[in-house]
Amino acid sequence: MAKKIVIANWKLNPVDIKEAVKLFSDTKRIASKFSKINVVVAPPAVYLSKFSVNKGNLFLGSQDAFWEKEGAFTGEVSSFLLSNLGVKYSILGHSERRSLGESDEVVRKKVRSSLDNFIFPIVCVGERERDSHGKYLDELRQQIKNSLGKIQKKDLSRIIIAYEPVWAIGKSSRDAINPEKLHEMVIFIRKILTDLFGRESAEQTTIIYGGSVDPTNAKDLCQKGEVSGFLVGGASLNPERFAGIIKSIQ
Ligand code: PGA
Repeated sequence: MAKKIVIANWKLNPVDIKEAVKLFSDTKRIASKFSKINVVVAPPAVYLSKFSVNKGNLFLGSQDAFWEKEGAFTGEVSSFLLSNLGVKYSILGHSERRSLGESDEVVRKKVRSSLDNFIFPIVCVGERERDSHGKYLDELRQQIKNSLGKIQKKDLSRIIIAYEPVWAIGKSSRDAINPEKLHEMVIFIRKILTDLFGRESAEQTTIIYGGSVDPTNAKDLCQKGEVSGFLVGGASLNPERFAGIIKSIQ
């Protein structure tokens, strides 16, 4: 199995620069204790140029990326610029961006531009809610198919799929998916990837989970869910909780 990975998605936090610097240095210290696990910090974009990572298991991530390199695109930050800043991973198609109108087609362009700029795309997918007829499975299938459309088989090994059911995000550990259900979803996602790219590539794809992960549920979710790591929101803002998650899956 590939090296495990834990991504700190700070979202729009902290808004105090001193706090951000402190949080980054705490996270750096934590990462250095767990060299077997890759740790990615995805802060608000304005902090990226202030944080430096040395060689090792800590990497910079962005929470988004724009596909065009340069030009008349007010407000956008391109994969090209992010790459120049040392960003190695980009979270793409997070549900909080999709809810602001980001489509699968837009996510697909961002995946392409990230790959072209040597950034690993972390493609977020997940159903908004569950229904008893299994419509949510179709929703997930479409999201994966469209967000990865036209991606070549050889590129799949550089893509991380983050399964993040929207109903489980930003709550307490009790509200996360249960590990057995997560395992079912991982199998389902690999089946979709097999249909798109063939079995061998699908089996090697890194799949992680996000949605109310904390130190109390991380171990079971990782082991029984058979994921390679986590995308962590709330708990990544608290060094102790973040360290607890990494420790429990090392
Ligand atoms: P959460 O966020 O860990 O706070 O649920 C996860 C995410 O939105 O990526």
